[in-house]
Amino acid sequence: MSRLFKILVAVITFAGAPLAHADDHAEKGVERLSPEVRSLLNKEMVAIQKGIVSVLGVYASGNFEEIATVAGRIKNSYILKQDISRQQRHELHQKLPKSFVHLDQQFHKHAGLLEAAAKNNNDELTGFYFSKLVDSCSGCHSQHAKHKFPAFEEPDEENTHP
Ligand code: HEC
Repeated sequence: MSRLFKILVAVITFAGAPLAHADDHAEKGVERLSPEVRSLLNKEMVAIQKGIVSVLGVYASGNFEEIATVAGRIKNSYILKQDISRQQRHELHQKLPKSFVHLDQQFHKHAGLLEAAAKNNNDELTGFYFSKLVDSCSGCHSQHAKHKFPAFEEPDEENTHP
């Protein structure tokens, strides 16, 4: 847990300043990753997709304990928390734009908040953070994964920030 925190802090400080114009090339960042690291990222995606789908299932059943368990799993799927080499971590820091790292962080933070809300049997907050998580999929894909999801390609490239 505290290790994750340290990594997060490292990511913020690392990925921050030096990438002044990184956002201009938002979608390029992911495409520049090495096949190994990219495959890890895609594994993370498949894992969070599975997680979100199962949260929906248990959400409908009203079983808060189960929601908390699944949300915890999503939170822990964070790519930077995986068992990756120092070099791979460096690569992620170097190649992914700041906005990507920020969105990924937000996503996992919201998963953690969903976990906490479900643990507290807080119906309203659980719904709130679940919808935050669902929104963040398209929020990130529309900025960083247009190559994968071309439906997000807009005729005139207006960058709409939520
Ligand atoms: C922080 C950014 C970010 C967030 C948040 C995010 N994704 Fe992704 N996702 C990506 C990127 C980038 C790719 C494309 C990776 C590539 O091109 O290799 C991707 C690819 C995927 C894929 C394709 C994986 C494959 O193996 O082909 C799936 C499925 C997916 N995302 C599901 C989701 C779902 C569901 C959510 C929300 C619950 C989500 N993603 C949230 C950035 C994100």
